[in-house]
Amino acid sequence: MNQTKAFLFDLDGVIVDTAVFHYIAWRRMANTLGFDISEAFNETLKGVSRMDSLNLILAEGGVTLPEETKLELAARKNDWYLELVSQMTPADILPGVTDFFRELKVTGIRTALGSVSKNAKLILARIGMLDQFDAIIDGTKISKGKPDPEVFLKGAEELGVSPAECVVFEDAVAGIEAARRAGMRTVGIGSPDVLTDATLVVPNLTGLSVETVCTL
Ligand code: BG6
Ligand code: MG
Repeated sequence: MNQTKAFLFDLDGVIVDTAVFHYIAWRRMANTLGFDISEAFNETLKGVSRMDSLNLILAEGGVTLPEETKLELAARKNDWYLELVSQMTPADILPGVTDFFRELKVTGIRTALGSVSKNAKLILARIGMLDQFDAIIDGTKISKGKPDPEVFLKGAEELGVSPAECVVFEDAVAGIEAARRAGMRTVGIGSPDVLTDATLVVPNLTGLSVETVCTL
């Protein structure tokens, strides 16, 4: 059996539900370009970096734009997104997270954030969880988004543990794939019908014990 030394957490959809804010902001941008994006399509953007998301959205709308315009659009979307994020408080932490971290802290298991978001630290500060991680790997520290394993491999490296000693918590299909490619076990947050490749799937962290995760 693998020894478990570290838990690596995605942010959006695992610690807080910012996916809805990303959707509102991207949809606003798509609407200004004359098309709409569905909630089902938004699922495919989870865990995908800002510019990769923009490219997928433009392809969905059949729109081709020069690089400079794309950068402007991404910046505008981020401004809209940050307006929504600025209203977040610790009350926005997803169910079960606070209790799970309380249990985790007494076990000696190391923790890292593994998010492709460039806004990760700002969000953690807003919800009062900036001091809860031994390492923070975010979009400012990586060159490749999920499903590339870079974000999780960097997390393990920064914590000084091997991939086989890590368990990743993820809500995105791209994130589960990234963790698997890193050689890590996974807890999928969401539906087993969607997160088919996760080691274990739970709807949220409520009632999940650290021991259960360690023995996956
Ligand atoms: C991920 C989200 O966590 O971060 C994606 O799931 C998002 O939807 C990505 O595009 C990048 O976020 P940001 O905050 O850098 O635009
Ligand atoms: Mg996520």
